[in-house]
Amino acid sequence: MKVLAIETSCDETAAAVLEDSGAVLSNVVASQIKDHAAFGGVVPEIASRRHTELIEPVVKEALGEAGITERDLGAVAVTRGPGLVGALLVGISFAKSLAYGLGIPLVGVNHLEGHLAAAMIDNEVTYPHIGMVVSGGHTSLYRIDSPSKVEPIGQTLDDAAGEAYDKVAKLLFLGYPGGVVIENLSRGVDAHEIDFPRPLMNDGSYDFSFSGLKTAVLNRVLKEGIFEDMALGFSGMPREKKPVPGKENLVPKIAAAFQEAVVEVLVTKAFRAAVENSMDLLVVTGGVASNGRLREKLGEKSAETGVRLIIPDRKYCTDNAAMIGRAGLRSLREGRFAGLDLNAVSRWTWE
Ligand code: KG4
Ligand code: ZN
Repeated sequence: MKVLAIETSCDETAAAVLEDSGAVLSNVVASQIKDHAAFGGVVPEIASRRHTELIEPVVKEALGEAGITERDLGAVAVTRGPGLVGALLVGISFAKSLAYGLGIPLVGVNHLEGHLAAAMIDNEVTYPHIGMVVSGGHTSLYRIDSPSKVEPIGQTLDDAAGEAYDKVAKLLFLGYPGGVVIENLSRGVDAHEIDFPRPLMNDGSYDFSFSGLKTAVLNRVLKEGIFEDMALGFSGMPREKKPVPGKENLVPKIAAAFQEAVVEVLVTKAFRAAVENSMDLLVVTGGVASNGRLREKLGEKSAETGVRLIIPDRKYCTDNAAMIGRAGLRSLREGRFAGLDLNAVSRWTWE
């Protein structure tokens, strides 16, 4: 049986086709980054409109790449939440029409469960294990005893790690989105010349906090006088701005030091959760898990502690539909079908 998966929770319109064995036959992602970049972040109304325009061509491309037509489909899986309700509804409406028209089952998928299921695409996932989702909306640790027994054990108290990357990139006038820009700018730069705080790193909880780190970066930028007119605030500021002559080399140093602080906190807490819960496997996923420095440091710590590490391929870390299909297969197997009354949910911790 072949399953079509659809993901439209934020600013990526994505569709994938999977075999019921879990094999990915196609995985198409149309990014809307260019449509939102001028605004310095995702604009919900623009996201909904672009999803409406892109959903049909993206689904057609996914079917084409898999070498099938919609008549070959046995089920449709779609992201139900959490995410932007208007954006989610585009994917949900499309999935419902298709499932109804073809007379095949429909399943609604939790986006976070999708991120965690990405680990299953190319790897043998064993239970129990610790899962960590690090994305633009979440920084969460889970104790996962079985695919259906997922217990949240820690989360961010304020900004998510990806959100911190995006905000720091904004205050360094590097453009949007921040994760990739900061990673590229930091490559080969001494990350220890400037020292930023590691919030909650050794507090004994599994929670995170990144908003103080962002403020520490802002204070440093102001103290060093890297940009003119910053003290006036951000409203009306251009998205990109050149540093004051002579201060240019401080920007990559600050970016690298910020990244190092985020990475050290994430690595320390994830492995502490694994070791303290006697787990021999750690799964790390979500957009920030595509970061090369994080992947490198997680790898080092895995070798040091002997805790096995699974980080999905980069294309399955950032938002995609293959991960939604992978999670949807389980709901299908368990017969947890959705009706035509399936609705979007903006917040959804766990079922
Ligand atoms: O998982 P994702 O694609 O969407 C959400 O569910 O949020 O994650 C997007 C987030 C953004 O904040 C983005 O800046 C961050 O992931 N991100 C990165 C990298 N690529 C994406 N952060 C750090 N390094 C990267 N290479
Ligand atoms: Zn996501």
